[in-house]
Amino acid sequence: MSTPNAFKRHLITAALPYANGPVHIGHIAGCYLPADIYVRFLKMQGNDVCFVCGSDEHGVPITIKAKNEGVTPQEIVDRYHSLMQEAFFGLGISFDTYHRTSDPLHHKTASDFFLHLYEKGVFEEKETEQYFDPVEKQFLADRYIVGTCPKCGHDHAYGDQCEACGASLSPTELIDPKSTLSGEVPVLKKTVNWFLPLDAFQEKLTDFIGSKKSYWKSNVYGQCMSWLQQGLHARAMTRDLDWGVKVPVGNADGKVLYVWFDAPIGYISATKAFHGEDWEKYWKSPDTRLVHFIGKDNIVFHCLIFPAMLMAHGGYNLPENVPANEFLNLEGKKISTSRNWAVWVHEYLNEFPGREDELRYVLTSIAPESGDSEFTWSDFQARVNNELVAILGNFVNRVMVLYKKFFDSTIDADVSSFSRNIHNQVVEGAFQNVSHNLHQYKFKNGLIAAMEVARHGNRFLTETEPWKLFKTDPLATRAILNDCLLLTGQLSFLLYPFMPHTSKRLLNLLNLPNSENTPAWESKVQFSKGHILSEPQHLFTKIDDAQMEIQREKLNSVVEVDHQPGELNFPAEKAEVSFEDFTKMDIRVGEILSAEKVKKADKLLHLTVDVGIKQISLVSGIAQYFAPEVLPGTKVCVLLNLAPRKIRGVMSQGMILMAENPDGSLRFVQSDAATGSIVG
Ligand code: 2FM
Ligand code: ZN
Repeated sequence: MSTPNAFKRHLITAALPYANGPVHIGHIAGCYLPADIYVRFLKMQGNDVCFVCGSDEHGVPITIKAKNEGVTPQEIVDRYHSLMQEAFFGLGISFDTYHRTSDPLHHKTASDFFLHLYEKGVFEEKETEQYFDPVEKQFLADRYIVGTCPKCGHDHAYGDQCEACGASLSPTELIDPKSTLSGEVPVLKKTVNWFLPLDAFQEKLTDFIGSKKSYWKSNVYGQCMSWLQQGLHARAMTRDLDWGVKVPVGNADGKVLYVWFDAPIGYISATKAFHGEDWEKYWKSPDTRLVHFIGKDNIVFHCLIFPAMLMAHGGYNLPENVPANEFLNLEGKKISTSRNWAVWVHEYLNEFPGREDELRYVLTSIAPESGDSEFTWSDFQARVNNELVAILGNFVNRVMVLYKKFFDSTIDADVSSFSRNIHNQVVEGAFQNVSHNLHQYKFKNGLIAAMEVARHGNRFLTETEPWKLFKTDPLATRAILNDCLLLTGQLSFLLYPFMPHTSKRLLNLLNLPNSENTPAWESKVQFSKGHILSEPQHLFTKIDDAQMEIQREKLNSVVEVDHQPGELNFPAEKAEVSFEDFTKMDIRVGEILSAEKVKKADKLLHLTVDVGIKQISLVSGIAQYFAPEVLPGTKVCVLLNLAPRKIRGVMSQGMILMAENPDGSLRFVQSDAATGSIVG
């Protein structure tokens, strides 16, 4: 394994998130937070580091979303690019640049890269038959075709995989294929595309991955080896689509680069955007180290396909490491953008202002480093209250308050070293321990090692009880508290990679210089005679049960409207219910009287509906499909006796019945019977 410090430069990339949804805590814990901690740490150690990311703005799902909303793909990506960028920076993810793949600089970079391979004769040009949706008039990506699995008979297998038996499929193997876009039977149509012959890189890739055995994470190494053992095949690097980077060769009208061809090149474009002409040394110089932070679903692209592209091009460094994380679940379920089962970072930042580091702390503590892990609001609350408030915050606050009480917050003589050697041992041990763990991408353990200094400080205060000692020995009291001030200062450096906002607050409390520049690792603090500390202030405050209840309620009141095509269009049949159960439901024909948007909720409308016997208030997740002004007068069917619940502060006394189109869009279930009529 090459030690990071042996390199002159580090190029650290974080997976470019798709610009078709906001960033959630799973993204953060899986990729962006570990990358940020790592980068901050490397920078503290004085390294030349370039940290790049950006929005991945191409691919079919973005075009489908645009179609569903009746807007252009550019409008979709503009919306999410800004939202994601703000969320990342709001949480203190310190990208040097956050670029985007719809930028002309990226189009040129990706196009040139493709052309270079094309001119070298790397690609195989092949005519194949692909499924084409005759209604939507477009070729269908594998995920957008469903049918019966030829292996196990499951009737909702996807064109690339059957999730029931795990078989990997090609769309033409499906029995009774259907397009998930229109529900129609797709037709086979001939098309020419350019394929990267991954099989030709099999040996080189095997050597490349083999050389990483001793130091890559075992999940990453294992997944790569398993792909290699199955044998690599040529993969199409172009698609028949009108959204993306145009294929820069003749006879390629209506074709764009495959999104997974252009996205990793986005790292190169982002480096160009930041470093201008200097970009090449970050990609090509042998003394630069390339590390990709990603989630586990991206392993094959970063460890095999992108390296094959780089090998084919020539002159580029290959990744030195790809420390992929596993997945974070939320309250017992898989996080899902389409099902809106997520904690969105932009919402967290609005709802918990000034608490960026609480989320950073908890997500680092539970990061899915070696297996899937779980976020729950009660665990979040417990970690904030029992660790940040009770250990770190409590230590610092006790020191600040005691110093004020006994010494009027004023230092009476220069303080530059601990009065007891034990503190040196603890602090030096912590710096080493954090460093050792971070070099191995063990962020959880690194954070525990840093927090150990706060635990030590608390134990020291409890053992020495300076508040009792002051009357009899003010000198000894001052020595104890001076040690604690130095410990607090050291904590600000140890915690900086994990909790940069807290690190800053600690320096502010100590009234020490607090520049915008990255502090040096193992910096020392000192106080000169006459130095005055700032007013004591709590670093953290407790999170109460009511706040957590609001979050849980918000999650549980989620209305599923924003489906990814291919993901949810044909849900499996539900379990049988009795006739009695069915008759318990009071469904009636209603008429919408008024409709208005729910504040701060893009997807919700507040409706008043006449159901014959009364008028009721309803909150419905249909704002993306219906403008409120067109709704009054519309006849709908309403489930009346659903337990009332508050959604975003508005009471909802039932549910409007909706039917879902194969593309995920919604339509009312309607009847022309009189308002109030019973449905059943
Ligand atoms: O899985 C994803 O969200 C992809 N957009 C990641 C792309 S990473 C890189 F290649 F840009
Ligand atoms: Zn199957």
